[in-house]
Amino acid sequence: MSFYVTTPIYYVNGEPHLGHAYSTIAADILARHMRQRGEDVFFLTGTDEHGEPVAQEAEREGVTPRELGDRYAPRFKEMAAKIEASNDFFIRTTDQGHMDRVQEIVQRVHDNGHVYEGVYEGWYCPRCADFKTESELGPGNTCPIHQIPLTRETETNWFFRLSSFQEDLERLYAKRPDFVQPDFRRNEALAFIRQGLQDVSLSRPRLKWGVPVPWDTDQVIYVWFDALLNYVTALAYAREGEDLTGRFWPAFHILGKDILKFHAVYWPAFLIAAGIEVPKGMFIHGYLLMEGHKMSKSLGNVLDPDEVIAKFGADALRYYCFREVSFGQDGQISPAGFEARYETELANEFGNLANRALAMTERYRDGQAPEAELDPAIAADFEGAPDRVRELLDEARLTQALEEIWKLVRRLNQYVEETRPWDLAKEDGEADSLDQVLYTLAEGLRVTTLLLHPYMPETTGRLLDALGEPSRELAELGSQEGGRRIERIPPLFPKLEAEPAA
Ligand code: MSP
Repeated sequence: MSFYVTTPIYYVNGEPHLGHAYSTIAADILARHMRQRGEDVFFLTGTDEHGEPVAQEAEREGVTPRELGDRYAPRFKEMAAKIEASNDFFIRTTDQGHMDRVQEIVQRVHDNGHVYEGVYEGWYCPRCADFKTESELGPGNTCPIHQIPLTRETETNWFFRLSSFQEDLERLYAKRPDFVQPDFRRNEALAFIRQGLQDVSLSRPRLKWGVPVPWDTDQVIYVWFDALLNYVTALAYAREGEDLTGRFWPAFHILGKDILKFHAVYWPAFLIAAGIEVPKGMFIHGYLLMEGHKMSKSLGNVLDPDEVIAKFGADALRYYCFREVSFGQDGQISPAGFEARYETELANEFGNLANRALAMTERYRDGQAPEAELDPAIAADFEGAPDRVRELLDEARLTQALEEIWKLVRRLNQYVEETRPWDLAKEDGEADSLDQVLYTLAEGLRVTTLLLHPYMPETTGRLLDALGEPSRELAELGSQEGGRRIERIPPLFPKLEAEPAA
């Protein structure tokens, strides 16, 4: 089976921040989990470089949009690497391979009779690159997302006949109840569709920065269609001499709630118009909020992932984002919140468990996992957990799956407290019990760590090596024999240095 997962492509009009990293980490966790299951995985991320959001920022800074893209695209690429994203390709919408295919597909939609020329008048947000309907307007004709004044635009442009896809979309939603997840987002999208769809601009006449409309080169393709098409075009040219479309399409999309309408309404309609299969599905996440507001460049309340990583490490960041905020909902994050979870959960619960298991095996059994039977109490509590994690991740329930795994961490800690191996080690005649406890601990920890691997690839990789587990595949979840070499390693999550007093 194949699994193709995508992130939104990010505007190159500023430095990447934690809000961007969030979508990428989510997609990465799914990609890594599916690879662990032996699926044929393709994971795509990249940058959105055309259109007004980029052109306006370039103008403000007195550089060309291309220069801005060349400055920031590498920053997004570096961010992906720093947060340990295992993407198989990084697309830039300025790639010739992308632009050629955008033109081909848009031409096809035109030839299929879904495009006409018309006049548009409406309120436009240059940062969203979106016309707002009356019901979407903020107070005093402002953008509800960016809180900036909207501009009144009247222009002749090419339209995509979105209105004629209303029934197709309603049918799609009826036939595929999980097409958009979570359900409350699906209902939101469906309500938008049912209220009646209006045709949308497919081109912009005044903007010069974009992919030319193939039959009218005075206009450029509206940035949203250019951008959405990245999910399809990348497969055709990501590997030289190989078209991956048949192998991986359709995709599963991860995106934030701000761009629901484009993905859940425009995109499937456009694909139907082009004669391309609609996506497998999509999961819409909420916002990471700082001091009550969406983290965003225009509001200036951004947390720099580099700083967070320098202090806590990329794995801790990955963990925190999906533990603190239920994936799908909005949630507050804060440096103090990071620190608290780092100390109590990563250092004290998981780190300490790992440390104890490794240290006791070294001390009492010369670093050799004993040959024994799994303690039935732990076996029973672990029973079914891996399947539950799989099922939750099939639905991109990243926080709930992590919660299931964390129950195992806590259960193992409790097991150490209950069995008190340090007492068993002192008592004559308890050698078999101690063998069983140490074997069960090593085994429980190995299973838990394999399940955690997609969330925290680096630290869990080190721990799996220390536990003598060379594989990262979930096929290895079944019990392993004792007798493996177990190595002691430095703390996975070292205590944070206290801040020097000011
Ligand atoms: N370029 C478009 C997307 C095109 S996809 C075909 C775009 N870019 S963006 O850079 O503005 O934001 C992209 C995504 O970043 C958002 O959808 C969301 O997934 C993520 N986030 C940006 N800020 C965020 C938060 N504060 N919190 C969570 N995610 C946020 O829109």
